[in-house]
Amino acid sequence: MRDGDLQQFLDVTASAFATRAAPGSDPARVVAEVFGRCAQPAPPAGEARAARMAACGWFDAALALARAGGPAAVADALARLGPRLPWARRASADPADRSFYDGHANAMILGPGGIEPRADLWIGLSLIAPGVTYPFHSHPPEEVYLPLAPGEWWNERMDWTDPGPAGLIYNPPGIRHAMRAGKTPFLALWILPL
Ligand SMILES: [Fe+2]
Repeated sequence: MRDGDLQQFLDVTASAFATRAAPGSDPARVVAEVFGRCAQPAPPAGEARAARMAACGWFDAALALARAGGPAAVADALARLGPRLPWARRASADPADRSFYDGHANAMILGPGGIEPRADLWIGLSLIAPGVTYPFHSHPPEEVYLPLAPGEWWNERMDWTDPGPAGLIYNPPGIRHAMRAGKTPFLALWILPL
């Protein structure tokens, strides 16, 4: 019911999140909830159409950084899914702000409009060009990020932080948060239970 490349991505990604989440922590609870739901594939529905954005030119460089210093198995699984990713800009991105407009892209992998469309969770990817900041935003569900290529995160309770390749970032429900690339492209996965 679920193709091998997507299942392989889920297996290595669940493991990467789980090994980084301290037992009993909020991230550990979210990881168990999201990947527990994934055990049940969504009923067949139309896979989102693959799309590319200007920022996708940074994808291969970001994957190379992830292979070198991050979870290499996740990078390899994402490389295999690469041609199917439905990259999109943030809906509110302003074309007048070329740096951000052409300097970021998000792809839903499992979730609404994803490779596996489903309504009970989001698992997706954010790619940010060097020197670009992803603006402050918030959403009701809590969220856990897995850094793939280096970057920094901020939220209302945390100064700008680079969790390193062995870390995770947890954003409580509704908190204002942001992230930014340094001198290299930023790549991270996010999971949210809906
Ligand atoms: Fe977020």
